[in-house]
Amino acid sequence: MRTQVAIIGAGPAGLLLSQLLHKAGVDCIVLERQSADYVLSRIRAGVIEQVLVDLLDRAGVGARMRREGLVHEGFNIAVEGEVFRIDLRALTGGKTVTVYGQTELTRDLMEAHSARGAAVIYEARDVALHGLESDAPSVTCVKDEAGVHIACDFVAGCDGFHGVSRKSIPESVLQTWERVYPSGWLGVLCDAPPCNEELIYSRHERGFALASMRSHTRSRYYVQVGLDERLEDWPDERFWDEVSRRLGGDVAPRITRAASIEKSIAPLRSFVAEPMRHGRLFLAGDAAHIVPPTGAKGLNLAASDVFYLSQALARYYREGASDGLDSYSARALARVWKAERFSWWFTSMTHQFADMDAFSRRMQRVELDYIRSSRAAAAVVAENYVGLPLD
Ligand code: APR
Ligand code: PHB
Repeated sequence: MRTQVAIIGAGPAGLLLSQLLHKAGVDCIVLERQSADYVLSRIRAGVIEQVLVDLLDRAGVGARMRREGLVHEGFNIAVEGEVFRIDLRALTGGKTVTVYGQTELTRDLMEAHSARGAAVIYEARDVALHGLESDAPSVTCVKDEAGVHIACDFVAGCDGFHGVSRKSIPESVLQTWERVYPSGWLGVLCDAPPCNEELIYSRHERGFALASMRSHTRSRYYVQVGLDERLEDWPDERFWDEVSRRLGGDVAPRITRAASIEKSIAPLRSFVAEPMRHGRLFLAGDAAHIVPPTGAKGLNLAASDVFYLSQALARYYREGASDGLDSYSARALARVWKAERFSWWFTSMTHQFADMDAFSRRMQRVELDYIRSSRAAAAVVAENYVGLPLD
């Protein structure tokens, strides 16, 4: 087989890139290790920046998000139960975010691929990248016990943190930065109306909590837990008691308790790999970087990487110019690092870690009080939350 761009991974990054390249007349094949159902079963983020909203429209898959997505003009921060609002629209000159589950976004991308008979090979095993430093790279895999060989011009590594692409870059070339936080997020999805019109991020002595949503009838809540915690130690009743305590007295009575339809613990990690290009391989999304979910940046960074990479590849095939490809890594990383900073900062200001001393805990409350009382400080939070400009 032959294609112009072989894309590894059919998560949001891989499918959005494939859709944008198709729109630009660039031929590509997507290789995904799991089944489509498995990919859809993963419950992930829910807040998307205008950048991604616009990209979904450009990719021709934004209709349902426009119909069902919830446009939010602000979000809230609770400090020991005292809630204040970050007015995104007022503080950013009119920008907003849209609440729309990653699962739904991925479903929309999958349906668009299926409708056009796009080449997505699910349950592709033993994916391997070859000749990345040559001008004739290729990808091999095993599908239904048969070997597959795909010759290509470029490989897009959209295969997430545990994928094969980043590991195909020689260790002597790759530089990584990592912080593993000594906590995780225990998340619950339930079919109950949200406790608040907008999200509430809570800083509480007992630990972080978040009240989010997927729609007017489906809620998503999180509590910070230790890395040694097990799901079986968190029956629904205990979860509802804890999230109520951490969201505080004004919010707790508005929480509608319901049976969890999904419950999972996700680790908190900051991670960046540089460069995001090696020869004919380009990394995008979680394959190159991870953020703690506090800032809701993971999906949105995958989107900006894909925006830059799809533009660069389209330009190469349209005009034979490789400047976009040559500047991709630096351009993407400039935005990645700023989102890493915001995600790390917001996590550090709202979570309780055992190694924090009394002064650090006090500084958290001072920082959040400063944001509450200063328009300038709140504007810094707001411009990062809605997403910094693409360039
Ligand atoms: N071969 C083929 N596919 C692979 C391989 C492999 N060796 N390894 C992983 N994959 C697939 C995974 O099964 C997954 O479907 O690559 C896909 C990567 O998707 P994501 O992990 O969702 O990463 P990305 O598309 O960059 O989206 C980032 O997803 O994980 C969340 O918080 C993250 O919201 C962010 C978004
Ligand atoms: C979610 O709804 O899953 C969500 C929302 C905001 C975040 C993280 C997760 O910052």
